[in-house]
Amino acid sequence: MCGIVGFTGRENATPIILDGLSKLEYRGYDSAGVVVYSDNKLKVTKCKGEVKELYKATDDGKALVGNIGLGHTRWATHGEPSDINAHPHLSNDEHIAVVHNGIIENYQKLRNMLEAQGFVFRSETDTEVAVDLIQYFYKGNILEAIAEATRRMEGSYALGVICDNDPDTLYAVRKESPLIVGKADGCNLFASDVTALIKYTRDIYYLDDGDIIAMTADDIKFYNSELQPIEKELSKIEWDISAAEKGGYEHFMFKEIMEQPEVIHKTLSPRIRDGRIVLDELTFSDEYLKNVNKLYIVACGSAYHVGIIAKYNIEKLTRIPVEVALASEFRYYSPILDENTLVICISQSGTTADTLAALREAKRLGAKVLSIVNVVGSFIAKEADCVLYTHAGPEIAVATTKGYSTQLAVTYLLGLYLADLKGTVTKEEYSRLLSELEKLPEQMQKVIDNKEHIQYLASLYFNNDDIFFIGRNLDYAITLEGSLKLKEISYIHSEAYAAGELKHGTISLVERGDEHKKGTLVISIATYLELLEKTRSNVEEVRSRGAEILTVTSPEGFETMEKVSDNVITIPSAEQMYTPSLAVVALQLFSYYMALLRGCSIDKPRNLAKSVTVE
Ligand code: AGP
Repeated sequence: MCGIVGFTGRENATPIILDGLSKLEYRGYDSAGVVVYSDNKLKVTKCKGEVKELYKATDDGKALVGNIGLGHTRWATHGEPSDINAHPHLSNDEHIAVVHNGIIENYQKLRNMLEAQGFVFRSETDTEVAVDLIQYFYKGNILEAIAEATRRMEGSYALGVICDNDPDTLYAVRKESPLIVGKADGCNLFASDVTALIKYTRDIYYLDDGDIIAMTADDIKFYNSELQPIEKELSKIEWDISAAEKGGYEHFMFKEIMEQPEVIHKTLSPRIRDGRIVLDELTFSDEYLKNVNKLYIVACGSAYHVGIIAKYNIEKLTRIPVEVALASEFRYYSPILDENTLVICISQSGTTADTLAALREAKRLGAKVLSIVNVVGSFIAKEADCVLYTHAGPEIAVATTKGYSTQLAVTYLLGLYLADLKGTVTKEEYSRLLSELEKLPEQMQKVIDNKEHIQYLASLYFNNDDIFFIGRNLDYAITLEGSLKLKEISYIHSEAYAAGELKHGTISLVERGDEHKKGTLVISIATYLELLEKTRSNVEEVRSRGAEILTVTSPEGFETMEKVSDNVITIPSAEQMYTPSLAVVALQLFSYYMALLRGCSIDKPRNLAKSVTVE
C-alpha cells in the first residue's frame, strides 16, 4: 500500500524521489505526488494516476528543482483517488508538508478540534489532519511539534515531514507502518522499503515504533518519542540491486516464477547439514517444543493457503493438532491459547496489518510466536519470539509466487524438525524425507521447463468466465492457491472446492458446452495418490454434466486421470508431502499465461496492494 520516499543531498531531489516512487509502485497505489523545497518555499506537484504522470508534470524532475524533498504513492482509504486527496499535503499556512502511510483512526475528532480553531480542510484525507496538527503545535521547533502531534494521533503512521523554516532537514516518525532509513555518501534517504533505497546505499537503519528522525544530507539523528537522542544499529542489505529489477523479463511475476528453484535451494540448503535439519534461528528450547500440544497457523491470502498445506503435513508427521486461521478472524475471535500453544505467523512482507495484530493478540494471550517471514527486519519478524526467514529475495509482483513457495519449503523443514524432536518419525523415514526434500529445486525446474505446454493450454481456455478448481487433501489446499492466483491476475471468476464438496450445491453451476463454447472448465488437481480414485469419481461427476476437464497430476496418477480429462499437465514424481510445491508452479504459470492472453496488468492487478497495511 502507500509508499514514502524522502531525500536530502546536493543534487536535484525530484528525479531521485520519482525513481524511488517507481520502485514502490508494486505496493499498489492510485495517486502520487512530490514536494521539494525550492526558491524559499515548498513546491508540490501531485496527481491522480501513475508515477509516470508525475514524470510528465515535472519534465522528468527538471521542472521541480530542489535538494530536499518527499514523495508519495497513495492507496486510497479516506477519500477517493483524486488530485486533491493525493499526498503531499500542505498545512494551512503552507509552511509544512507531510506524506503519510497508515490510518489515523481518531482523525475525525482531531479534525473537529482543528476546525474549531479555524483550520480549513481541502481534502477528505486523514493525513491533512496530521499536517495541520503539526502546524497547530509548531512554536519554532518542528521536532517538538511533530512529537506533540503524534502523541495525539491514534492508529498507524509513517510520516515524512518538511518545514520551510528548517529547510535543510527532513523529519520522519513511524508507528506500526514501515519506514527504513538509508545512509549514503553525501546524501541520506528514507523510504517504505529497501527497493527504493538500494540504488543509493546498502547501509540501512530500521526504525522502531515511536522513533523520530531528523535527517540532513550529512547527518541522521534519532530520537525516541520523548525526544531523547537514541543510537541505532546500522544493517547491511545483502541482496543485489538486480534482484529488484526485471532483468530482461516482461513481468516481475514471470521472473519470480523462474527464480523459484534457486530461492528454494537458498531457503533449504543452509538449514540442512550432514543429513540433519539445523534451525539455528529457532531459539525455543527443545523442552518447550516437545511440550507444544497445539499449533496455530495464522496468516492472510496465499500465506494462509501455505498454512493449510502445513496443517495436513505437520499433523500427519507429528500428530500435533494444527489449527489454521485467517489473521483477520483470529484477532477478534478469542482463540483458546496457552503456554503450550505455538502460534506460527506466516507473511511474505512482514507488514500485513491483520497478521501483525494477530501476532500481538497471540502474545497477549500467553502463547509463543514463531514467524515465517521474507522481509528482514519487518514488524512480524521483529515482534515474534523467533523468526525463520524465507530467502526469496525481494518479491515485486503483487501476486506472490516465490514468496509462497519458500514459505511452504520452511513449513516442510519445520514439520520434519518437530517430528524428529517428538520422535514421531523413524530415523530412516526422517532421512528419506529429507533427501527427497533436497530434490525439490530440480523437480520445480522440470515443471518450469514444461511452460510451453502450459502456455498452449492457457490459449485454449483464456476466454472462460468461470473456472472451478477441485482436489482432495493436499490437492484441495493447492486448489485454493491456484484459484486465488487466477482471480487476482486474470480477473476470471474462479472458485476452489474440496472435490467431495462440489455436489453439495456448487455443481449446479456446471454448464454443458455447445458447438460455440466448451463446457464449464474444471481444473482437477490429482496428485494425492491415496485419494486418486475418489478424485477421479468427482471428476466423472462434473464431466458427465458437461464440464471440460484440465487435470494436473503426477506420472503415478496419469493413467487413472487421463481417461477422464480433456487435457493433462504432468508434474514430476515427488514425495507426496512435497507435491504441492510442484503443482503450484504449474498453476502459477497457467494463471500467468491466462492473464497475458487477456491483456491484464500482471504485476499490478487492479485494486490490489502488495503489502496490506490496513485491516
Ligand atoms: C497473494 O498473491 C496475495 N497478493 C495476498 O493474498 C498475500 O498473500 C496476502 O496479502 C498476505 O501477504 P503477506 O504474506 O505479505 O502477509
